[in-house]
Amino acid sequence: MAYENILSASQNGITTITVNRPSKLNALNKATIKELHDAFETANDDNSTKVIIITGSGEKAFVAGADISEFANFNVDNGGKLAAKGQELLFDFVENLSTPVIAAVNGFALGGGLELAMAAHFRVASDNAKMGLPEVSLGVIPGYGGTQRLPQLVGKGRAMELIMTAGMIDANTAKDYGLVNHVVSQEELIPLAEKIASKIMRNSSVAISKAIKAVNANYKDGVNGFETEIEEFGNCFGTEDFKEGTTAFLEKRKAEFPGK
Ligand code: COA
Repeated sequence: MAYENILSASQNGITTITVNRPSKLNALNKATIKELHDAFETANDDNSTKVIIITGSGEKAFVAGADISEFANFNVDNGGKLAAKGQELLFDFVENLSTPVIAAVNGFALGGGLELAMAAHFRVASDNAKMGLPEVSLGVIPGYGGTQRLPQLVGKGRAMELIMTAGMIDANTAKDYGLVNHVVSQEELIPLAEKIASKIMRNSSVAISKAIKAVNANYKDGVNGFETEIEEFGNCFGTEDFKEGTTAFLEKRKAEFPGK
């Protein structure tokens, strides 16, 4: 698929996907969401991609939200479908990928932008980043998972305050809240994400994919996370990565995981 609104580049086991509509502060229109779905799916299916980084182009914004111009005249039916389709194609999709996804938040992450960052497996931010869910200032509520994932990450009280005030927090407050793991300068942001990615890549990609599934199980209705963990733990014993990891340890050498 040819992309008009995003960039996707792969190198050394990392695929970096960049939302590339800087004149609109990388706002997520329908076309961008479709392209992101395709880029994430392609990277996840590519065996040479071990980690995906999602970021925004320009110095101002990660993603400043869903594209307001696209839904300003929607009715109840259109609104529900917009949220359902977006969650299916992008937000739930990203959260449930088997390849680790790091959001490198390089500026405004508002509304759908913060929701995209929260769908990633974890987040790092530059010191100019600003985060919030301003939807109630527009007369709507977060529709791409924000009312669920923000309380999971920062606690119910802080999430309620952020959502009700439609306010923004800076990067250091976001770190204090546990919303982002690290804060660095803009120049250091992608190198930091890549450094963390290279640490992840040393480990078994199969075990990591099972760990993602087990951690996510805690947040799914009708799924018992402990049972998922037991099942996935057991499944690890049937993998080539497990044989290599334990053999390498006993032979006092570095593991060369086949990723199977
Ligand atoms: N949807 C559509 N367009 C958006 C957008 C969004 N979510 N966020 C920014 N843009 C566009 C602006 O309309 C403007 O386009 P224009 O130059 O054609 O008029 C361009 O991006 C630059 O934004 P601007 O508002 O001029 O930048 P700023 O520095 O003055 O303000 C923000 C930055 C982020 C505070 C402001 O753009 C904003 O509040 N955006 C909306 C955030 C939001 O409510 N997101 C949740 C949506 S559900």
